[in-house]
Amino acid sequence: MRVPIIGGNWKMNKTINEAINTVEDLKTKLEGVEGVEIVIFPPFTALKMLQGLLQGSNIGLGAQNMYYEEKGAYTGEISPLMLQDVGCRYVILGHSERRGYFGETDELINKKLKTALSFEFTPVVCVGEKLEERKAGRATEIVEAQVRKCLQGIGPEEVKRVVIAYEPVWAIGTGETATPSQAGEMHRFIRKILKELYGEELANFIRIQYGGSVKPENIKGLMKEEDIDGALVGGASLNTESFAKIVKGSRRL
Ligand code: PGA
Repeated sequence: MRVPIIGGNWKMNKTINEAINTVEDLKTKLEGVEGVEIVIFPPFTALKMLQGLLQGSNIGLGAQNMYYEEKGAYTGEISPLMLQDVGCRYVILGHSERRGYFGETDELINKKLKTALSFEFTPVVCVGEKLEERKAGRATEIVEAQVRKCLQGIGPEEVKRVVIAYEPVWAIGTGETATPSQAGEMHRFIRKILKELYGEELANFIRIQYGGSVKPENIKGLMKEEDIDGALVGGASLNTESFAKIVKGSRRL
């Protein structure tokens, strides 16, 4: 019922030329692939160029971040209007690197989410605990607070479009993945919170991606978990071969 969604988060990588080469190769490798929603999140500078290249393909375009105001004196920020202008339909909000290095809070992410939804983006809202929080047995508590605060004031019609990415911070870029059962358990827990907030039907509709050192070797195991609806891929999305393998491996057969 839920179509898996695989996102390639390129982070602060690739010049425009590198981005063009990557996308041309990716289009060939993923041509005709169905049963999975595919999105890439290139750096801002490459978006305009890629908009044209991706037209008519099965790969969607997204941004890695967005401010919650439409325009104004916010030096260095990027607005929803600007992202719409370059053909973005998806946006990542509250990635752990934004939270960790740039001080983003759940309150800020909630504001961004409201704007993103009003502009009809598909927002990918990231949550996840740090290593010390998991070690202290506080992982579910932390994730629950993030989910509730980020979704504060979001109505049932809007929440349908939200994708949640569970990304344990200790698994991002470390090569250490949560095991399918560790991830599956947290995804079930997140869905339980969604049930409390929005009821059974909506909770079963919302997609929850896993993120953190996803590779071609571990995607199939992760996708066997019923509550894992795809992946947000960092490092392995920079290489077209591994990203294409992850996309293909994520289809529920
Ligand atoms: P990673 O990053 O796949 O390199 O661990 C995932 C992410 O940060 O979204």
